[in-house]
Amino acid sequence: MPALSARDGYRLWASHYAEETAVSALEDAEVRALAVPVEGRRLLDVGCGVGRRLSQSGASIAVGVDLVPEMLVRAAGGRWAMGDGRRATSDANTEITCAAADVRSLPFDDASFDVLWCRLVLGHVRDVGAAYRELGRVCANGGVVIVSDVHTAAVAAGHRRTFRDEAGVLHELEHYAYALDDHRQAARGAALELDAHRVGVVGPVIQHFYIEAGREDAYTAQFGLPLVSVMSFAKSGVA
Ligand SMILES: C[S@@+](CC[C@H](N)C(=O)[O-])C[C@H]1O[C@@H](n2cnc3c(N)ncnc32)[C@H](O)[C@@H]1O
Repeated sequence: MPALSARDGYRLWASHYAEETAVSALEDAEVRALAVPVEGRRLLDVGCGVGRRLSQSGASIAVGVDLVPEMLVRAAGGRWAMGDGRRATSDANTEITCAAADVRSLPFDDASFDVLWCRLVLGHVRDVGAAYRELGRVCANGGVVIVSDVHTAAVAAGHRRTFRDEAGVLHELEHYAYALDDHRQAARGAALELDAHRVGVVGPVIQHFYIEAGREDAYTAQFGLPLVSVMSFAKSGVA
């Protein structure tokens, strides 16, 4: 199966992307476990997709950007409209703004945000150094950048970034496998120092996904396999 680019793939996946998967649920649990405070801080979610992590964040400013407008238009329960690609809306807690943008060229001034998320995005980006340079640039000194990725052990075990479109056809997405050290080195060039790393493994948190898919055999075979890697970087101000 030829892999689709992120742009083509997420355009097809957008209509039902909001449904959690084993990978996304495990990733969210690991990001929460990092316990990086967001409330009252300026938050940028880079590669926010349908914005499912932004709502209820409690941030003083919550901004989401994504490469794929079809993902953004579904953000915040579909209350964002297409047009110039930029709309504001709000939910119970947080005023949210979104825009179409590439992680390698962010449309923000230096040091505009205190907390950045880049969650399950960089595995789709060939030039991860350019992405980290932009994440580091728009992060304020003393700020935090949280990055998550599919773990290289899962890739080595045959895990692929796949999804089914609305007609049930299986597609694979273009994906680059970056080890912890690849992330660390690229981040360092952007004055971002690794200060926490968590690994989410196949286990009870996501067992129900396997049961619902009738894949208990796969759960047993994969039990303990590292599936997601979650990293927190501190912005030091010195590249
Ligand atoms: C796996 S989804 C994750 C979405 C969201 N972060 C979440 O956790 O729900 C990956 C997202 O990254 C976006 N993406 C891929 N390449 C990108 C790039 N170069 N710049 C910005 N977003 C990108 C895709 O369009 C997609 O919405």
